[in-house]
Amino acid sequence: MSPAHALGFETQREEVADASLSVEGSLPDWLVGRLIRNGPGQFEAGDTPLRHWFDPYALLRGFRIDGRTDTVTYTNRFVRSEDYEYAREHGDVRRMLPGTPPDRSLFTRLRHTLTGAFQDNPSIGVQHLGGTVTAITESPVGVAVDDETLATTGRRDLTTGLDADFTLGHPHYDPERDVFVNFAVSYGSGATYTLFERDRRTASPEIVGEVSFDDAPYAHSFALTDEFAILASIPYGLDTTKLLTGAFGDGTFLDAITAFEGSGPGRGSAPTRDAAFLLFDRETGEVAHRVAADPFFVYHHANAFREDDTIVVDLIAYEDERAMTGLTLENLAGSDPDVPTGDFVRYRLPLDDGRAARETLYEGQVEFPTLAYPDRLGEPYRYCYLAANADGSSLPTRLVKYDHRTEETTTWTPDRTGAAFPGEPLFESAPGADAEDAGVIVTTVLDADAERTDLVVLDARTMERVARAEGVHRLPYGFHGQFYRDGDPVRSMA
Ligand SMILES: [Fe+2]
Repeated sequence: MSPAHALGFETQREEVADASLSVEGSLPDWLVGRLIRNGPGQFEAGDTPLRHWFDPYALLRGFRIDGRTDTVTYTNRFVRSEDYEYAREHGDVRRMLPGTPPDRSLFTRLRHTLTGAFQDNPSIGVQHLGGTVTAITESPVGVAVDDETLATTGRRDLTTGLDADFTLGHPHYDPERDVFVNFAVSYGSGATYTLFERDRRTASPEIVGEVSFDDAPYAHSFALTDEFAILASIPYGLDTTKLLTGAFGDGTFLDAITAFEGSGPGRGSAPTRDAAFLLFDRETGEVAHRVAADPFFVYHHANAFREDDTIVVDLIAYEDERAMTGLTLENLAGSDPDVPTGDFVRYRLPLDDGRAARETLYEGQVEFPTLAYPDRLGEPYRYCYLAANADGSSLPTRLVKYDHRTEETTTWTPDRTGAAFPGEPLFESAPGADAEDAGVIVTTVLDADAERTDLVVLDARTMERVARAEGVHRLPYGFHGQFYRDGDPVRSMA
């Protein structure tokens, strides 16, 4: 018998439009808008099972929430990327997905590798760009969708105006300047990371600065303050030679993920180079500070802010690249998954001299750190919200509110009889409220017994449930989303 968490890694092919969900409890009357979440939807191409969690085809899930009437309507649609359409039409993998090789001729695979033909399956998150909701991932392509029907309406080249192969899937929104801030990446024998700002209405980019590396460190997100964009150069990333030679066989990006050798501490008998936090001055574009740290791996930053002559950076830290290579679907859906452990940690980066000091705030496995975004972005903040795993599960089983002031936590566990897996906890602040945690947490919960995914709203102060909208079907576990208020939509997380 499959473990309960395996349901989070199974395809849902059904698409539903405007289904009214039955709401139990009461939504705050100010909560009016649309939650759009992104994540895996289809885990195979024809008969070929996809291998890694980052491979499945993107499925958008939309919840229209109206707290004035206590109503929720639900719509879900696959993103009609070229990769998705090809998989549906031919039953094969068109281009190399992060962990699954394409089912194509050697010549085609080589051509894709040499010309940097990246996959266009945008399963990480969404960005409201140029007036349109756009599904994004670590790809040059964003896929625009209608924000009500979630139907695919067009494609956008996210590297236009940037000499780069792709952009990161976690752009920040800077409310002071009303721009998105992100990095573009290009691969050669090493890698170049280009910091840019993008007008959210016209989507046109302006380059701020860049840095080149001899190796190709992986980055999934970064931290932002008024002064600095902070990029973690971790000693784990792409061996570009291995990627190229892998194209002769059935090698993938994930097969080419490696630890970079160096004189740093590393693990075992293979010394790894140090990690480094690169602090880009957002005015000059220069890397103003470079602060070394012991090796670590990171997907998600929570926040960063200045404290006298120190920059504080909070993130989810893993030991090494197994945080990525270990996320195979065979492992995650298995009965005894070996899940990489990420802890919620705080780094203090001295601006004058010295190495980064690290403190563990909350031991994991935890992921999806969120906060009162964008209000507290780049500022001292009190509360961070996290999704936390139980032992033996590859998916989170509870949500945790961490209080930086008291170092205490408040936990919410789904009140279901069987296993239930809550997703990323998105915070939405109550209008006009002073308290940082005056607002709600909006999330989706996969109820394994009922084989159903519900929308759940918690009071962020108490972490108690105030409302649940009963889903119409089961959804695979998702990645990231945004809550867009009606009117002028801004982001609710990076
Ligand atoms: Fe992410």
